[in-house]
Amino acid sequence: MSVDIEVIAQEIEREANVVTDSASLEVLRIKYVGKKGILSEILSRLGDLPSEQKPIVGKRANELKNKIINFIKEKESEFKSAVKETAKFDITLPGTDYPVGQLHPLTQVTEEICDIFTKIGFKICESPEIETEFNNFTALNIPLEHPSRDVFDTFYLKSQERLLLRSHTSPGQVRVMKQYQPPLAVVVPGKVYRPDAVDASHSFMFHQVEGFLVDEEIKFSDLKGVLTYFCRQFFGQDIKMRFRPHFFPFTEPSAEVDISCIICKGKGCSVCGKKGWLEILGAGMIHPNVFKAVGYPKDKYTGFAFGMGVERICMLKYGISDIRLFFENDLRFLKQF
Ligand code: DAH
Repeated sequence: MSVDIEVIAQEIEREANVVTDSASLEVLRIKYVGKKGILSEILSRLGDLPSEQKPIVGKRANELKNKIINFIKEKESEFKSAVKETAKFDITLPGTDYPVGQLHPLTQVTEEICDIFTKIGFKICESPEIETEFNNFTALNIPLEHPSRDVFDTFYLKSQERLLLRSHTSPGQVRVMKQYQPPLAVVVPGKVYRPDAVDASHSFMFHQVEGFLVDEEIKFSDLKGVLTYFCRQFFGQDIKMRFRPHFFPFTEPSAEVDISCIICKGKGCSVCGKKGWLEILGAGMIHPNVFKAVGYPKDKYTGFAFGMGVERICMLKYGISDIRLFFENDLRFLKQF
């Protein structure tokens, strides 16, 4: 027997160069260093070689065997860490589910209210929470020292300019009208503040949506039409409504609007206090003094305005009995909407 060990060495080199994965590595191992592998055979049959070849081939075959074994070890760990790497980024695995947040019920209801009005052409305007005494009271025909100011009890800021936290969203009307000429149809959603003691139905901060429409010939029937449309959209087509005469300094005539109780459908229950009706908003025809305060020409425009409390409407809609639940940030409550 004679062996050209260098030809085998070249062959090994060539085959090792094309090993790309554990499978081709295993083929290489079996072929050369497996039990019946080429190098194993050579080493076990060294005795059959001519005596001058024995030491040379024996030495070289051992060298090659060790080289291959080291190569296999190296490659194996290389492949293993590559597998680990890809496992880290296995894009076929399902992702981690993070709980998805949602809008606060008051935000949801505010958006729902505003959407109903924007569908019929109203625009949404924001107005600042820090107001001047003029915009919050004077321009709305609520004169200084007038007892009606008590109704809108107010947090004043410690400042010279008599700034305050707005006690209603009605000053939004004043700001918009000062800046724009009619025709105007606007809703102003936002936070309002009153120094009320907190209980199940009072909070020192709550939300309102103000709305108003001004043009040259706006009548009380337009107000009724718009509010009827709103109530039917929001509470359902079968809702009944009534307009009760009321007093607001910034509207004349003024009304409070009731809807038939959505719980008992008007029969009388604990939610409506056995009356069958729920008060949901205040409204009226904008007082001429308001137009005067914003600088509109005398007798040119008429318009209506309305204001509603978002918490109250949300509580009625979802049967919530305590206003404090909105502000406690208890996820067990908030998740239900
Ligand atoms: N601003 C009133 C309040 O806070 C609500 C209101 C009543 C707004 C009548 C109006 C209105 O625009 O016409 O209670």
